[in-house]
Amino acid sequence: MVGVLLGGGTGSRLYPVTFAVNKHFIPIYNKPMVYYSFSILMLAGIREVVIVCSPGDLDGYRKLFGDGSKLGMKVEYAVQEEPKGLADGLLKAEEFARGEPVCLVLGDNVFYGHELQELLREARKKVETEGGAVIFAYHVKDPEMFGVVEFDEEGNVVSIEEKPKNPKSSYAVTGLYFYDNTCFEKAKRVKPSDRGELEITSVNEEYLKEGSLKVKPLRRGFAWFDAGTHDSFLKAGEFIATIEKRTGYMIGCIEEIAYRNGWIDREQLIKLAEPLRKTDYGRYLLTIAEEEGAF
Ligand code: G1P
Repeated sequence: MVGVLLGGGTGSRLYPVTFAVNKHFIPIYNKPMVYYSFSILMLAGIREVVIVCSPGDLDGYRKLFGDGSKLGMKVEYAVQEEPKGLADGLLKAEEFARGEPVCLVLGDNVFYGHELQELLREARKKVETEGGAVIFAYHVKDPEMFGVVEFDEEGNVVSIEEKPKNPKSSYAVTGLYFYDNTCFEKAKRVKPSDRGELEITSVNEEYLKEGSLKVKPLRRGFAWFDAGTHDSFLKAGEFIATIEKRTGYMIGCIEEIAYRNGWIDREQLIKLAEPLRKTDYGRYLLTIAEEEGAF
């Protein structure tokens, strides 16, 4: 499975902050926003990632991830000349997927919760062995801001709508999608929506129509943020800071995950910590390197 991280867009809902900087590079508490979504792919055990971004942001992404080898991964880049929607972004990754299934994640999404890694690996396995799609739904107060999924009494999906004025439920579709390789054919059939974008919701509707869409609700114990607005951005940062300070564990720490996944050795972890040694982040990495074996 190949990871596809959508890191383009104009970030217009975060103006004026994003006049000069791509939103994915600005910090959610102590690390760039994009680390959180990138780490989701890593937790799913995905070692090959393609980042889809605008031409002007390539350099920034390269500074953060390079070719991925420092994390024991392979990271490639696909350019989306204009922000024409998420399904269009997905299409830019087609040649990099080389016929494999994909895990698509939006660069502004943050997930946190008990047994997240197990949940991700299960979804991955299902799509790899049975095909189809697995996506996730989360109960929110403002469903009209998102893709919204409607369930029947048995928990089957009845409909999915993009930002409906009158939402049929309070379940938002999160920005994390496990797809078999037919997602590319499906994305090619998508017509622009009223807001002129190729919507990812239309791809999900195609899976729904053919009866191969599984929507897993993320229960109360989970936290999901779409850090696309000033408020949600702040809330996400406060949440991360609170959990990290309380537990002493970091969320979205890509070097730690690479190490615990066994993709880099202790020596490499210490090397990655070196330029960060003035920060709690760097000291955290060094503490992990001193542990008796990773777990
Ligand atoms: C996108 C999707 C929407 C989904 C949301 C999750 O919306 O179109 O279906 O619920 O991401 O973050 P956007 O944030 O691009 O408006």
